[in-house]
Amino acid sequence: MLDIQIQAPFPILQGKGAPESEQTLVLITGPDFDNANGPFSHLDAATGGALGRAVAISRFKGQRDQSCVLLAPCAAVARIVLIGCGPDEELDIPTMEAAGGQAAKAVHDTTHADLAFAGRCAEFAAHAAFGATIGRYRFDLYHTEEAENAPQLQRLHLGVDNPDALREEWESLRAVAQGVFRARDLVSEPPNILNPPEFARRIETLRDLGVEVEILNAATLRELGFGALLGVAQGSDQEARVAIMRYRGSEEAPIAFIGKGVTFDSGGISIKPAAGMDEMKTDMGGAAAVVGALEAVARRKAKTHVIGVVGLVENMLSGNAQRPGDVVRSYAGKTIEVLNTDAEGRLVLADVLAYAKERFQPRLMVDLATLTGAIVVSLGHVRAGLFSTDDTLANALFDAGEETGEALWRMPMGKAYDRQLRSDIADMKNITGRPGSSITAAQFLARFVGDTPWAHLDIAGVAWRSDAAPQCPKGATGFGVRLLDALVRRHEQSDRAA
Ligand code: BES
Ligand code: MN
Ligand code: ZN
Repeated sequence: MLDIQIQAPFPILQGKGAPESEQTLVLITGPDFDNANGPFSHLDAATGGALGRAVAISRFKGQRDQSCVLLAPCAAVARIVLIGCGPDEELDIPTMEAAGGQAAKAVHDTTHADLAFAGRCAEFAAHAAFGATIGRYRFDLYHTEEAENAPQLQRLHLGVDNPDALREEWESLRAVAQGVFRARDLVSEPPNILNPPEFARRIETLRDLGVEVEILNAATLRELGFGALLGVAQGSDQEARVAIMRYRGSEEAPIAFIGKGVTFDSGGISIKPAAGMDEMKTDMGGAAAVVGALEAVARRKAKTHVIGVVGLVENMLSGNAQRPGDVVRSYAGKTIEVLNTDAEGRLVLADVLAYAKERFQPRLMVDLATLTGAIVVSLGHVRAGLFSTDDTLANALFDAGEETGEALWRMPMGKAYDRQLRSDIADMKNITGRPGSSITAAQFLARFVGDTPWAHLDIAGVAWRSDAAPQCPKGATGFGVRLLDALVRRHEQSDRAA
């Protein structure tokens, strides 16, 4: 992880002293960058006007996504980079994180750089550091040869007016970054390595952070009656697991996070087409987000009681695989006609939701799942689907999404959708027709939740990206970690107020 060092402002940006030798300086700034007496003007003076001349001939106006790079503007300075973040009034956390990510990218070929801020940007310095850190993520476990243009950047110095306050804020954001990295690592791992037992072993490492971890193996799940989850797992040589994580940051009833952890989804007997099937290693993105969120809250020592429960299975084909037409008995006792073995996520979640609700009586439950291709049709790769029967929880999650940039969009629910789940032979079937099928999937889950405030996040479109963004290289996004962490923060605040 990028090493972030927080210190007092760089003298050169205050018009004091000369540049350090070979200094690489990045300045994040809005459109009013050329304010008299601001850091820009001092830097311009120190470079004998080179900076001003460069900006004049570039298109740099301090707007979002703009940047301007100067190489060797004077003898002592190796490089100056200006990153635009738009006007102060429009500055928010996602913008600042994107600017931080862009900053790290602009200096990726040096080992360390100095990062400074102009105007209101300084308030967001910790988030710029966060953006730089998570933008710098790489999953390199299986490269045995170093790539030619592998990033060199190791350390960022942040020069700010209030280093002590910022250090504290960074401490807690760094914990969240570690949670994001944990989730991305899990999603990036290939499915031959990260099978359900291995996933459970990795979760056990959370014990080092003070998280209680309990693993239920297949025999226990059978005794407990996890019939829907085990039906999905039965075609695989890899045994199913359910992992329970508990972080006790208060004595209140817990908040429960539930995750779909299908380590590979072949579709089962209702097999998927070959093209793109490899992407189904990401079908455990919900579980990864739950694990990452527990890592984040434990590392930053949140004052809330949080439970994570993830259902870990592999959906495969074999002589013993579940068939279309099978009827299974769920943990809740309700029977399900499995008409399509590729609608497996809801079968896994049905048991895990019912179990978590009964055992922990949480004050609320949020599940995350790469549940349907239909949500990708609805919302693309931009927002995740938010389904909830509880307006307060839905609004809190929506707001947390806007704040963190892990954006959601609320989808409808209702009886007319629920009705479509009727089966001729069992209490319900696991598929409906294609119209509105993300909603009917959510409706299926709702049947296992009862009256606990609950929300379901369908993250099928956002768990993986095929193009790079400033805060995220292409590949696993870790979507959900920051959102869940933000939800926990809200509860910490309201618990303190109460
Ligand atoms: N894991 C998939 C959904 C998915 C699709 C995740 C694309 C990520 C990207 C899920 O298990 C699935 O196969 N859903 C089916 C349901 C259908 C059979 C009712 C789908 O969406 O096609
Ligand atoms: Mn599937
Ligand atoms: Zn799936």
